Amino acid sequence: MSFPKDFFWGAATSSYQIEGAYNIEGRGQSVWDTFCNKKNVVWNNQNGNTACSHYYQYKDDVSSMKNIGLNSYRLSISWPRVIPEGIGKVNQKGLDFYDKLVDELIDSGIEPFITLFHWDYPYELYAKGGWLNNDSPEWFFEYTKVIVDKLSDRVRNWITLNEPRCFVISGHEKGVHAPGDKLELKNISTIAHNALLAHGKAVQIIRSRSKQKCKIGFAPVGTVSVPATESKEDIKAARLFMFDTYENDLWHNSWWMDPVYLGKYPENGLEFLKDNSPAIKEGDMETISQPLDFFGITIYQAKKVKADEQGNPVVVPFEDGREITLMNWFVEPECLYWGPKFFYERYKTPIIIAENGMSNIDWVSTDGKVHDPQRINFLTRHLKELKRALEDNVDVSGYFHWSLMDNFEWAEGYKQRFGLIYIDYPSQKRILKDSAYWYKEVIKTNGNMI
Ligand code: GCO
Repeated sequence: MSFPKDFFWGAATSSYQIEGAYNIEGRGQSVWDTFCNKKNVVWNNQNGNTACSHYYQYKDDVSSMKNIGLNSYRLSISWPRVIPEGIGKVNQKGLDFYDKLVDELIDSGIEPFITLFHWDYPYELYAKGGWLNNDSPEWFFEYTKVIVDKLSDRVRNWITLNEPRCFVISGHEKGVHAPGDKLELKNISTIAHNALLAHGKAVQIIRSRSKQKCKIGFAPVGTVSVPATESKEDIKAARLFMFDTYENDLWHNSWWMDPVYLGKYPENGLEFLKDNSPAIKEGDMETISQPLDFFGITIYQAKKVKADEQGNPVVVPFEDGREITLMNWFVEPECLYWGPKFFYERYKTPIIIAENGMSNIDWVSTDGKVHDPQRINFLTRHLKELKRALEDNVDVSGYFHWSLMDNFEWAEGYKQRFGLIYIDYPSQKRILKDSAYWYKEVIKTNGNMI
């Protein structure tokens, strides 16, 4: 099988990374606003105050999407824009922004995929303890209700949380993302448990209040292992490394995915955590494991793994001189073959690639265009592998390129450009990169030119 007829060819963004308009029309503060106000936590002390000014330029941006031929777009909603204090009073103007954006997308024939939480957490809730507060799942439930009531007449694809592992660990344990905390493992596992509960409660409320039949998924980050050779032993070792090897923290696929898709925390993860395991109340695992329609996954890179004499996984170092992106991520196209394959095997849920892409040194050439041959090469090679997964009967229903446009790359600021569309930040002018025109052809041929 090649790319199916109704395949979602999309691109993704997130609210804090593109919207700007941080103090406009009643938006409350996000933990990313306060984090960026600290000195030297973000590259060059940058922030998302203006970002891509998408709040004002959303019509142009949708028209670029249409020009590229996207049939779907993954966006996220800024919780503090809609409910400035996180709970309680709704900011009508904030909600209206998403209402208009959704209309614009639908009028352009673009299917919206809405992510409810892509890390811009209301500061006021953080001040109440944030994700560590056991009321936090309920807060998320209430916020989701507001969004679903407003948009579900038109929106039928929902993603609850984006990469919970990243905002929990990078934001609360390592302190390199907002809110910048460095908490102990016991707290981290509690925060993780609350985030998973929030996911489950959101699924419940979407199902019960959606005005139409809808599809719901989750978008954890996928850390992928690629077998060094296609020997049975190496494939087994790569699978083991991807799901079963616990080392120094909770940076593991199964900790975040097993509860949601299999209804239980992985045994070896619990053994590893011991007293640092979260308190699991009766009914929690049922809440967390609500049935889902798709398995959203973000995949950017992979480690190569082989089996040692005993069959234990061993990471093979990347060869000298291998291709590397500006994020210092090694280019490993097979991540889009083995990743979907291993995840589908284990979780048996249709896969959507919620993000994949690369950061590159892009700038405007003297001909006024942005030539990004590396990105075209990267995408060609990755999509070939995704196609191979489809040919192997892995059920993949969509691919969302990260990102539609260059944007605020968290602690890396504006240094990293991931977009199909170049943003000239001082003028806020948009230029479609060569890769955007190339992606347009891919979509036109439904991937057959790959
Ligand atoms: C994610 C990230 C995105 C990043 C992208 C590149 O969902 O993975 O948070 O927002 O910009 O992954 O690092």
